[in-house]
Amino acid sequence: MNLNGLPYVIEPMQLRDVAEVMEIERLSFPTPWSARAYRYELQENNLSHYLIARPQRPLSKKEPGFLARLRRERLVERLRRSLRVTASPGVNILGYGGFWLMAGEAHISTIAVRAEWRRRGIGELLLVAMLERAVELGGDLAALEVRVSNVAAQSLYGKYGFAKVGRRPRYYSDRGEDALIMTTKHLTSAAFQSGFQRLKAELRQKLVERFSPQPQEVLDSPSTIP
Ligand SMILES: CC(C)(COP(=O)(O)OP(=O)(O)OC[C@H]1O[C@@H](n2cnc3c(N)ncnc32)[C@H](O)[C@@H]1OP(=O)(O)O)[C@@H](O)C(=O)NCCC(=O)NCCS
Repeated sequence: MNLNGLPYVIEPMQLRDVAEVMEIERLSFPTPWSARAYRYELQENNLSHYLIARPQRPLSKKEPGFLARLRRERLVERLRRSLRVTASPGVNILGYGGFWLMAGEAHISTIAVRAEWRRRGIGELLLVAMLERAVELGGDLAALEVRVSNVAAQSLYGKYGFAKVGRRPRYYSDRGEDALIMTTKHLTSAAFQSGFQRLKAELRQKLVERFSPQPQEVLDSPSTIP
């Protein structure tokens, strides 16, 4: 998807992103993955593909979580200085997602958006980016497991043509909850692509019209933060 003019950018996840990804992970899942698991995925697992979403520009003062984030970043910065660790500039992750590509099937392993940034199209943008990447890599189908109680995620997947095709009883050990198995049609089929292209165009329009920042809200640069 052409991201020009959109308020978010999508990039491959890097090792330096793991700490911030873990902040979102811990608040998003009852049984979060560990930082070590993410490092394994990025460094060792040749099947895995992980993406992150960032804001196109520094956070605005009016945006959700800005002050809390600013305080946290200052604290982290002070800690880094005292430990003489170099800060990675501009780290600011709003969401992430990943999949394993195995025998033509893109198995979505995770997707999460920072809680205060939900319902702004970021989850959808990440899903679009993953499905596009899967096709580029020769993927033919996408599949995933989702908790039966996770109505938000099921709605996102349903919007993008994932159909419920099965159930894994007590799949999630923390609460003994069942998983629904959801899959798409063939990703390159006309049936899938016609809906996909329409949804992408609608998403693009929504992101540009509803979620683009007003110029006066934008901070000039991160260095303006006292
Ligand atoms: C699922 C999740 C990634 C969605 O991210 P998001 O950025 O809020 O979603 P978007 O704003 O892009 O919404 C896209 C679509 O998802 C669905 N959706 C998202 N949140 C929803 C909610 N609270 N209730 C119902 N549908 C919802 C809708 O279909 C929506 O389309 P619409 O805007 O046309 O109604 C986010 O809720 C999240 O991080 N949840 C915690 C982690 C998680 O459960 N991950 C899924 C694991 S299987």
